[in-house]
Amino acid sequence: MNKLIVSLLLTLGITGIANAAGENVKGDAAAGQAKAAVCGACHGPDGNSMAPNFPKLAGQGEKYLTKQLHDIKSGKRTVLEMTGLLTNLSDQDMADISAYFASQKGSVGAADPKLVARGEALFRGGNLEKGLPACTGCHSPNGAGNAAAGFPHMGGQHAAYIAKQLTDFRKEEGGRTNDGDLKTMQTIAKKLSDEDIAAVSSYIQGLH
Ligand code: HEC
Ligand code: HEC
Repeated sequence: MNKLIVSLLLTLGITGIANAAGENVKGDAAAGQAKAAVCGACHGPDGNSMAPNFPKLAGQGEKYLTKQLHDIKSGKRTVLEMTGLLTNLSDQDMADISAYFASQKGSVGAADPKLVARGEALFRGGNLEKGLPACTGCHSPNGAGNAAAGFPHMGGQHAAYIAKQLTDFRKEEGGRTNDGDLKTMQTIAKKLSDEDIAAVSSYIQGLH
């Protein structure tokens, strides 16, 4: 592991992802169910979406979900499909919806047997030569993440969605840049080849 990544791990491990003011509102899952109805068209009524480009939200950490909703609403993260959908939601609405999806059970897919070995080696071991840390350090060995720290759950997530995120984090322009001042995921994704991304994304889809 290189020094940069070690310091990233230490800083994030101690503080987690810092939340802005409106993101600290406590959510009510029961109140969130009705408010989440409009989201179900793409993400599935219980947050287990069928289409591989729509991320599963079921079982995702509440803190991570709330942060993404604030980032999408403010334009820090671009999701064209959700344009205008969050405009009229308050901080409390977004907290309630996040609590609802966090309380649902996430479904698991299957990995491509041809990609499992490479995907597992990367996820669990990283790549010492490239200074790539193991994903398990933050996303946990079974892909459950770390809800309190705001590290996303990803076990069982659609491979196509995961691959798109890693590709977006890797882009020099027009990509995903809402991973904090430390640019943790942008730094990591730049060390992944296309083949690495395909393998680790497939592995994550079957992970639980
Ligand atoms: C028309 C389809 C559509 C609707 C309706 C929709 N979304 Fe999304 N949502 C998407 C897509 C597509 C993405 C992923 C974009 C990308 O690839 O980065 C996404 C991403 C997200 C993410 C980020 C997930 C992650 O793992 O980082 C959250 C959270 C989210 N949506 C919540 C909601 C909520 C809450 C609603 C209802 C208020 C909603 N969405 C309605 C299509 C939709
Ligand atoms: C130092 C901690 C750390 C390590 C190591 C790490 N991640 Fe992450 N990852 C994060 C954080 C924090 C986020 C959330 C960023 C944000 O707030 O948008 C994230 C987000 C992601 C996302 C987006 C999830 C979603 O639902 O949109 C993917 C995909 C991802 N990481 C994959 C990986 C893979 C694959 C590896 C290993 C090669 C890895 N990560 C290693 C901390 C880490």
